[in-house]
Amino acid sequence: MTIKTIVLAAGQGSRMRSSLPKVLHEIAGKPLLRHVYDSAAALDDNRIVIVYGFGGEQVRQALADIDAGWVEQKQQLGTGHAVRQAAEWIADEDQVLILYGDVPLLRTETLRRLVADAGPRSLALLTVKLDDPTGYGRIVRSAGGRVERIVEHKDATPEEREIREANTGILACRGERLKQWLSRLGNNNAQQEFYLTDVIQMAAAEGLDIITSAPVDADEVLGVNTRSQLAYLERAYQAQQAERLMAAGVTLRDPARVDVRGEFASLGQDIEVDVNVVFSGRCSIGSYVKIGANCVLKDAIIADHAEILPFSLIDQASVGAHGRVGPYARLRPETELAEHVHIGNFVEIKKSSIASGSKVNHLSYIGDSEVGRNVNIGAGTITCNYDGVNKFKTVIGDGAFIGSDSQLVAPVTIGENATIGAGSTITRDTPADQLTLSRAKQISISHWRRPEKKG
Ligand code: UD1
Ligand code: CA
Repeated sequence: MTIKTIVLAAGQGSRMRSSLPKVLHEIAGKPLLRHVYDSAAALDDNRIVIVYGFGGEQVRQALADIDAGWVEQKQQLGTGHAVRQAAEWIADEDQVLILYGDVPLLRTETLRRLVADAGPRSLALLTVKLDDPTGYGRIVRSAGGRVERIVEHKDATPEEREIREANTGILACRGERLKQWLSRLGNNNAQQEFYLTDVIQMAAAEGLDIITSAPVDADEVLGVNTRSQLAYLERAYQAQQAERLMAAGVTLRDPARVDVRGEFASLGQDIEVDVNVVFSGRCSIGSYVKIGANCVLKDAIIADHAEILPFSLIDQASVGAHGRVGPYARLRPETELAEHVHIGNFVEIKKSSIASGSKVNHLSYIGDSEVGRNVNIGAGTITCNYDGVNKFKTVIGDGAFIGSDSQLVAPVTIGENATIGAGSTITRDTPADQLTLSRAKQISISHWRRPEKKG
């Protein structure tokens, strides 16, 4: 059976006090709406339709790559009105699942169960028992325990407000009935809105079973209305990620001080992660890797036994086995370090490959370069790869030794086992095995006197 998931995302989210539409605010670097999309997209045979409104173009652009239908709700006249905008997408025999774009942590397994519970004679509804259900719709049950209807907080009597079972808003039912119910919704209520929740009463009156279930985890059904709730859910999400890492065999010095804003392509064994480390994008971390405090890894590939020392940034770069990077190193996109390469403090490497056993230990910039094996690059070496318009390549042969404070003006090739004297500005290719240096001759002035103060 085909599932149609309708995601309500038209609300403004005025309590965020933001120019950004609420559903584009992020958890773990990913817009709320994309979280919802991803958990729904994991269901088989599911077509997703997003009802958008406030900040519509911005929302569509931010999620232009997703496989979903888009329906505009020009005026936000309530959740029932919002679902009605998607009515033409719904076939009679569809299993319809209704989600909210601002409820980001719902798990696919929870959705799968909800869809399984909904049938021709039943409607599935996700509910939660809350200590303080203020603001939520309440689940009204008969003496026998059957769900009869949902009453919104603003419409509820004092007795109904005592009910702690709250509506999450998330439900599943068959398309044919839903379309009939939607066409019958009115807005004669406290907010003069077309409430989706009124379909519950219609379903119950038609004798359908309202099958309620609770989420696996209470945080799954929490919505984001304020920045405080956004921060709460970010921490809840990160706590889950930390648990996952530890379950996979990663040692975290402090599970409350690691952030995962993306996913892992692979994770080895016995990885150690110190405090305040951020992983983003798609990282791949080998076994026995150690990551020091305050490192940021984005789309990084770190091979076995490598060590990343504190305060390093690795962005779309790879570190070979037994490599050592940092402290305070920056690897920029398209950097590839082979095994046993050492990159030290205040070194920036951009779009360069460095072959095994080579070292760039201090204060250097290596860009657009191809560095051979067992090369030693002295402190303060700069590859001058840019003339203000074009970028040029530097090639350094195996076994070369670059003296400190040298500038290699690209395009330039340093021969194998060449030595460059410290302080040289190299503008032409240098031969293999020889010492090359460009340096003004050192002089001393014997009768020189320091200037004296006048008067
Ligand atoms: C809704 C439920 C309430 C439930 C609560 C759970 C109704 C009438 N009430 O209340 O029972 O306890 O969610 O959080 O359904 N939206 C639109 N278009 C609209 C109105 C809303 O797209 O015209 C979207 C919003 O962007 C949001 C979602 O629907 O993502 C829920 O809307 P919201 O106004 O927050 O509903 P509540 O009043 O909180
Ligand atoms: Ca809400």
